[in-house]
Amino acid sequence: MRIYQEADYEAMSRRAAGIISAEVIRRPNCVLGLATGSTPIGTYQNLIEGNKSGAYSFKEVTTVNLDEYKGLAPTHDQSYRYFMQHNLFDHIDVMPENTNVPDGLAADADAECARYDQLVASLGYADLQLLGLGRNGHIGFNEPGPAFVKETHVVDLTESTIDANARFFASADDVPRQALTMGIGVIMAAKRILLIASGSDKADALYAAICGPITPDCPASILQLHSDVVIVADKAALSKVTAAGVSVCE
Ligand code: F6R
Repeated sequence: MRIYQEADYEAMSRRAAGIISAEVIRRPNCVLGLATGSTPIGTYQNLIEGNKSGAYSFKEVTTVNLDEYKGLAPTHDQSYRYFMQHNLFDHIDVMPENTNVPDGLAADADAECARYDQLVASLGYADLQLLGLGRNGHIGFNEPGPAFVKETHVVDLTESTIDANARFFASADDVPRQALTMGIGVIMAAKRILLIASGSDKADALYAAICGPITPDCPASILQLHSDVVIVADKAALSKVTAAGVSVCE
């Protein structure tokens, strides 16, 4: 596990975009696993700028997103499909048909999860999977629980996640209570994983993920078992990790 400590959100975003763009340059037809949320927005802005400048192209890239709210249409402004269009896909030269997000409106959500697993497997899994980190240690929408769930599945969101995401909705009551999420096994099948985190509200979760026991109480702790993980985080998010004496690259 290599940990890059950056001064702030902007520097974290530049570093993360640099790692993703290096993958795209090295392997123009790579499979990128993508995340939503506040954390990757700056990373995506950097990727848009690089693509517009002609430094690299996403024409041959395939993307697979981690998750989607159950019950939200792709056109709903809080759906993760909408987020991806608005924050990345509409501004880069990726082929629309090569972008994949679970279908939150599928009549049979379990069948949609199985379809998504087959799709990601048929692509050979992500070459590089980008992850954000929940304040409770979740990755994708794999919430703390009694066991790691391997496959893509429908999950009940925890109160902590509903509270954290309420800022995007008119009220906490409007936050969907369920989501479809890539399972831990699918995430761990990615050849390389890039986790990004910013801000002091991620410090406890990042500490637990890196320094704590490997436990489904902190789903991100499973990343300790992956052979190629890069963490890019700012000083505030890494404060507890560095205080524990873990060495980081600057
Ligand atoms: C989103 C996702 C979530 C977020 C996490 C952090 O696709 O998979 O795990 O990465 O909730 O969200 P932010 O970045 O908003 O703090």
